[in-house]
Amino acid sequence: MFPQVRMRRIRSGKIRDLVRETGLTTDDLIYPMFVDETIDSTIGISSMPGVYRLPLGSVADDAKEALDLGIPAVILFGIPNNKDEMGTTAYGDNDVVQQAVRDIKNELGKDIVVITDVCLCEYTSHGHCGIVDYDTEKILNDPTLPLLGKTAVSHAKAGADIVAPSGMMDGMIGTIRSALDNNNFDDIPIMSYAAKYSSAFYGPFRDAAESGYSFGDRSSYQMDPANSNEAMREVALDIQEGADIIMVKPAIPYLDILYRIKTEFEMPTAAYNVSGEYAMLKAAAQNGWLDEKAVMYESLLSIKRAGADMILTYFAKDMARMLGECEGF
Ligand code: PBG
Repeated sequence: MFPQVRMRRIRSGKIRDLVRETGLTTDDLIYPMFVDETIDSTIGISSMPGVYRLPLGSVADDAKEALDLGIPAVILFGIPNNKDEMGTTAYGDNDVVQQAVRDIKNELGKDIVVITDVCLCEYTSHGHCGIVDYDTEKILNDPTLPLLGKTAVSHAKAGADIVAPSGMMDGMIGTIRSALDNNNFDDIPIMSYAAKYSSAFYGPFRDAAESGYSFGDRSSYQMDPANSNEAMREVALDIQEGADIIMVKPAIPYLDILYRIKTEFEMPTAAYNVSGEYAMLKAAAQNGWLDEKAVMYESLLSIKRAGADMILTYFAKDMARMLGECEGF
């Protein structure tokens, strides 16, 4: 009890550094990249200042820039020339993501971990993450699975180090695991977007990846933000089906879910600090309402503290630069 106990004794100077419980390093960061087959030069994304759509010709250079900053991994999203009802351009050997993976691997080899987002929404004309029955406007689960399997195999063939299914179809992890194993890719890990919520915080991403949907919404497959127990069931199933890394998405509004999942399953756990989380801080900083570097650091640190082993974030390069500048973080 006070005055014997004084919490402030350990809060100053170097002692503060000594007792710090959570650290953030560049090894925690995964840099998302948007590769656009339809453009010849880089274009900005207005709702995500500092994030760009890259033509195929620049992906390797951009990945190298991330690597030079100490970032160990990138995740790729593709914007294809053509979209159709079946998302055919998601799984061709020469489609946009497959080419981008090869370009990065040719340039950087094993020095960088290339993760690919495995989903149909960027490649379907209707923008949904699965095959659609237009009569009922239902997103069909089982017919979608083999296409996800094919997509994952095509990414692995191109040289992807990890595949990351994000479509929230039931059984997708098991299907992808078998497809990879049957094609001699038993050593390629799966990072499952296991607890992925139907979130309004994905708004800017849909501008970035042109993956907005033409009808309905994603609530028949993505989770209800009101639910926490359901996330435990999703994660347990994905682990049983063979997931190697579990993801929670979004991050900051779902830190309780992240904490619960890390505590309960003790799996390698990723958190996706999504486009809307990024856009909010950027907009406030641009208005002079928040100190950008400080809120970026505090946000990413809070995600680590809640239990993330790694963070997918559009702040990756900025955070890596900041960590490089200020030793001691
Ligand atoms: C594809 C996918 C989405 C995001 C990552 N993968 C969009 C969505 O589900 O609508 C969102 C990422 C972000 O907002 O930064 N299924």
